[in-house]
Amino acid sequence: MSYRDLALEMVRVTELAAICSSFYVGKGDKEGGDGAAVDAMRHYLNTINIQGTIVIGEGEKDEAPMLYNGEKVGTGNGPEVDIAVDPVEGTTLLAKGQPNAIATIALAEKGSMLRVGSSFYMNKIIVPRAAKDAIDISKSPTENLHSIADALNKNVNALTVFVLDRPRHNTLIEELRACGVRILLNAHGDVSGGVAAALPDREIDALFGIGGTPEAIITAAAIKAMDGGMQCQRAPQSYMERKRLEDEGTDINEILTLDNLITSDNTFFAATGITSSSFLKGVQFFGKHTVTTQSVVMRSRSGTIRFIDGIHDLTKKLQGQDFQISAPKS
Ligand code: FBP
Repeated sequence: MSYRDLALEMVRVTELAAICSSFYVGKGDKEGGDGAAVDAMRHYLNTINIQGTIVIGEGEKDEAPMLYNGEKVGTGNGPEVDIAVDPVEGTTLLAKGQPNAIATIALAEKGSMLRVGSSFYMNKIIVPRAAKDAIDISKSPTENLHSIADALNKNVNALTVFVLDRPRHNTLIEELRACGVRILLNAHGDVSGGVAAALPDREIDALFGIGGTPEAIITAAAIKAMDGGMQCQRAPQSYMERKRLEDEGTDINEILTLDNLITSDNTFFAATGITSSSFLKGVQFFGKHTVTTQSVVMRSRSGTIRFIDGIHDLTKKLQGQDFQISAPKS
């Protein structure tokens, strides 16, 4: 398997995860939906000719029986790679049937993804290519927004900024409002927010604020592929998270650039919509056997971004495979 061919394989992984978890849309069962996506991802990953290690997975082996950090996946032949997965990014969105749940995966050369240790949260700024040299996370949001606006040749009040709607962002949101930018407050989903910020044809100009550390690594693979800008800083949200990081000897104030998040310049990112949003259409069902998907895949070596619409025959897809979709009981 050449690296180049991996892009379509990554899409197959996220498509299957999205299809399997889509049976749980709106069922109020976060774990069930996530579990279905995990099963599907793991099943398909193990058919691909790679020697993969899950670097960002569902957690430590004890709590996560599958796709745990350190788990080996793939056939054992082919390139050695680090893999970061988020089988359902936006488990609450899936459980409530709200827009923007996606299945996503990132891949890069072995040893190149940051080992995040006990870091659960990071502060992030993400911008498109034209503004990549305009950001400095050590400066205030106001200073950053002015230099982003200059770089994008826009007025500050024409900038659109994605922020997770969290009490921890009250001060940030006040500052953004004082600057006059347009703000998209989202309940979840800062991978799609970050990716959309760097895509050339979307309304989002920047992502600001604190979200998950695993999500930061996955997003970094996409931002590298789009040659966008991204800076992060660990932002522990509890005494225990801070203490563990200190015990591990981590410099909490370190500014993490894209190259710190993933050292390799050979990254892949793929995502498939589970529920629809302006980023990706969700899984849709037609008749008894047909489902449609929409995915995006990108690779940093080529810089090509592909949106892929899939029409799948569920019966054939599962024929001859030792894999069953685990649909919810009700
Ligand atoms: P889950 O799918 O694990 O629920 O994550 C959703 C999400 O909103 C991410 O997009 C984001 O990075 C993170 O959670 C933010 O964490 P928190 O909800 O604890 O603020």
